[in-house]
Amino acid sequence: MKTIIEPFRIKTVEPIRLTTAAERARLIVEAGLNPFRLRAEDVVIDLLTDSGTSAMSAEGWAAIMRGDESYAGARSWYRFQDAVQRVFGFEHVVPTHQGRAAERILFGILVKPGDVVPNNTHFDTTRANIEANGGHPVDLPCAAAAIPSLEAPFKGDMDVDALERLLADSGPGRVPLIMLTITNNSGGGQPVSLANVRAVSAVARRHGIPFYLDACRFAENAWFIKQREPGQHDRPVRDIALEVFSLADGCTMSAKKDAFANMGGFLCTRDPELARQEKDLLILTEGYPTYGGLAGRDLEAIAVGLFEVLDEDYLQYRAASTAYLCDRLHAAGVPVMRPAGGHAVYLDARAFLPHVPSLQYPGQSLSIELYRHAGIRACEIGTVMFGLDPHTGAEKPAPLELVRLAIPRRVYTQSHIDYVLEATLEVFEDRDRLGGLRITEAPRFLRHFTARFEEIEGTWGG
Ligand code: F0G
Repeated sequence: MKTIIEPFRIKTVEPIRLTTAAERARLIVEAGLNPFRLRAEDVVIDLLTDSGTSAMSAEGWAAIMRGDESYAGARSWYRFQDAVQRVFGFEHVVPTHQGRAAERILFGILVKPGDVVPNNTHFDTTRANIEANGGHPVDLPCAAAAIPSLEAPFKGDMDVDALERLLADSGPGRVPLIMLTITNNSGGGQPVSLANVRAVSAVARRHGIPFYLDACRFAENAWFIKQREPGQHDRPVRDIALEVFSLADGCTMSAKKDAFANMGGFLCTRDPELARQEKDLLILTEGYPTYGGLAGRDLEAIAVGLFEVLDEDYLQYRAASTAYLCDRLHAAGVPVMRPAGGHAVYLDARAFLPHVPSLQYPGQSLSIELYRHAGIRACEIGTVMFGLDPHTGAEKPAPLELVRLAIPRRVYTQSHIDYVLEATLEVFEDRDRLGGLRITEAPRFLRHFTARFEEIEGTWGG
């Protein structure tokens, strides 16, 4: 059989409220033309994020009922710690309420003002947490990452030569850690090869610099290694993931992605002294080290999810469902990031709307039009997200203008995805009509979450 089915049955359903185009036109204006500000119940298909939006399994819900809510030393903590240690292989595990809390604690200890932190591409919270400590996040994606239409297996790789140059230029002691984000979310959800993880790890070891993984989508990354990297096809995904982690000194993790949890995260290290410092900070802001910012039931759900995500039938379906949307859009001529990544399809808004300049936010225009047209909520990953330097207040175009259609895990069926496909094709047909936006109000840090926009008169309806 060549049809790849959803390897699960649906046991509980949640109704979707259908809206009209007229309602949506009003609602998005009330939301300041920012999909983040919409009420979720006004959204038909919510592709804002794959984070915390997964459907949990019957086993996951059953585990929630087993949650031990003791303040210290709960049974759930030991189950969680054991699961993380077995899947990730790191000795010290620090639970946090989500990924960015792990980042804040790690960078709060390691990053000093003036430090430089390289990554393939920093996610927005990673970037902001480094900047909040006075550090400079530097993106070193491989050359292939800059060309959305290019078909290459590992566009999430870091440019290792650029890393060597950065280390030589930064001077001793200026780089407190090197990071790799698997998969590379802000770079289009593209995987990082095992060869690249090995190469970056070797550079880090040679320079005596700690090497950390931002591991949110580690299982999807390991699946792509299995599918795309020579010599890896016969290995279990779990072994590949363990090897990837064995090359690092620690990781930050948001359990809201590849652990199917609705909330949670953690920080891992092999360094006992660093773990002690992390736990001191944890107590200050997150909680006691055997629960971090989490309830016992959250720890239980994560312990189940970390093993479920390594199920290869699930991973095959996951990659196939994302590729289904990406490949059909591509075949119809819609500019998308190629090849399909794991958790999302990325529309190339710069090529989709070549008549809208970057500083008029083509990705934001496209995302609001997807909402107006079909009630689809997507997320701009472009100049709104990355264009502002929070220290100088200067704005410049982001390297890529993407609109992310993130696919929540196990939530939408193929007919939902067909609806997204049809809607996107219709917006594409009508793309000349879309125009530019200006920001009317925005904070300095992470402005994309709360900014308000208005249409630039004369640029719409052409
Ligand atoms: N690192 C990466 C690569 C991420 O994608 C995210 C979150 C985080 C760190 C932070 O984790 O949300 O648990 O604090 N990404 C979500 C997204 C929000 O929509 O891609 P968090």
